[in-house]
Amino acid sequence: MTATDPVTDRAALRRRLAAELEAARARTRALSHDVFGPDDPEFTRQHSPLMSPFHWDVAHIANMEDFWLVRRGAADTDLVDGVREDLDHLYDAFTNPRAARPSLPLLDPTEARVYGERVRERALAHLDAASFDERRTLAGGFLFGMIVQHEQQHVETMLATHQLRAGAPVLHADPPPASVVPGLAGSEVFHPGAEFLLGTSDEPFALDNEKPAHPVRVADFWLDAAPVTNAEYARFVDAGGYDDRSLWSEAGWEHIRAEGWTAPMTWERIDDRWYRTSFGVREEIPGDQPVLHVSFHEAAAYAAWAGKRLPTEVEWEFAARYEHASGTARRWPWGDEDPTPERANLDQRHLQPAPLGAYPAGASPLGVHQLVGDVWEWCDSGFEGYPGFEPFPYKEYSEVFFGGDFRMLRGSSFGVGTPNARTTFRNWDLPIRRQIFSGFRCARSA
Ligand code: AVJ
Ligand code: FE
Repeated sequence: MTATDPVTDRAALRRRLAAELEAARARTRALSHDVFGPDDPEFTRQHSPLMSPFHWDVAHIANMEDFWLVRRGAADTDLVDGVREDLDHLYDAFTNPRAARPSLPLLDPTEARVYGERVRERALAHLDAASFDERRTLAGGFLFGMIVQHEQQHVETMLATHQLRAGAPVLHADPPPASVVPGLAGSEVFHPGAEFLLGTSDEPFALDNEKPAHPVRVADFWLDAAPVTNAEYARFVDAGGYDDRSLWSEAGWEHIRAEGWTAPMTWERIDDRWYRTSFGVREEIPGDQPVLHVSFHEAAAYAAWAGKRLPTEVEWEFAARYEHASGTARRWPWGDEDPTPERANLDQRHLQPAPLGAYPAGASPLGVHQLVGDVWEWCDSGFEGYPGFEPFPYKEYSEVFFGGDFRMLRGSSFGVGTPNARTTFRNWDLPIRRQIFSGFRCARSA
């Protein structure tokens, strides 16, 4: 999804959107029907109170597409109506909190798959018929891109559900590439301050909360050249970090005490080695990979222990996009071209973060590595609309969360699909959450 694509070339845009819809669906299948038979209880079990059962996600994905592409799209294309309007209430994430979802009269796995296929057929018919420029809802194909991103977001959520499920492993992937740049752990890069255009007004598939682009002044700061590693984090744990009250906020301290947290999610110490569980596989923790499955509170406590702080989301985006030589904001740390497997660990190509220094082609001009992919990076900012924010196309995507008790995450993870990996993309979660693919890097004021 590039800003420089010929959006006027409708045939090319249609082909690209159809391919992205199919790529998202292939990932959905790979985490559901490809690994569980329709009668497998694993399909419909709630693996964690934090997550939905897989068949809920599959049908919710279909219902969003039914609502936005088939029924809303019909207003533009004069094609027939939606597929299952009667299902909207069941798959509305707002009226049905996660804990309640398993007891709803949900479609069974086969019905959910068939519903998704029927909706997709209709959506592709709308894609063929859409003029893309008559009305705002289908203008530029935005709603198709939004639905691609919605499915990809739920795929990442389903991947997190896989991480939480017990039982034999069902997912497999190639190991990540090896490090080719030594010495990144703990090293810092000085960022001279500048005025910077935060957010975007011209990415065609940017979601409402990324808009509009607006100038911000960034002061001089230092940013870690790479995310904090497992080995670095283990030193904090082994030094008694989880017992040192002075390193934690009040909310953070209360939470780790109440939950009994003494290390990141799935970590276990056996003799004097640390082990983790990664998609059902018990393994020794690779010291050179970014730490994974830490909450904002744990990231902030580590930063305090290291004599640093977490970056703000403005600093994060500035580091990822600002090119000091030209004084402009670019699309990616490496320039304007979309990610490739040589630049970033995305799309679940590997089921874990890559070691530090595995993606030299993805580094920023100042030498900051692995900003995109690998792990979501906690930032010390709350979720607010940018000046001039307008909800589009629905308030429940972003606006209803503004001002809540959320912390921002930037940079995407190995589980994020490329259509959602934009450096302007803003993710948020509660500061206690760590079932997501979250890590962090530290910053320091100059
Ligand atoms: C942006 C990841 C916080 O999963 O709650 C999915 C994305 N919104 N369906 C979420 C989303 C509606 C959202 N996050
Ligand atoms: Fe959703």
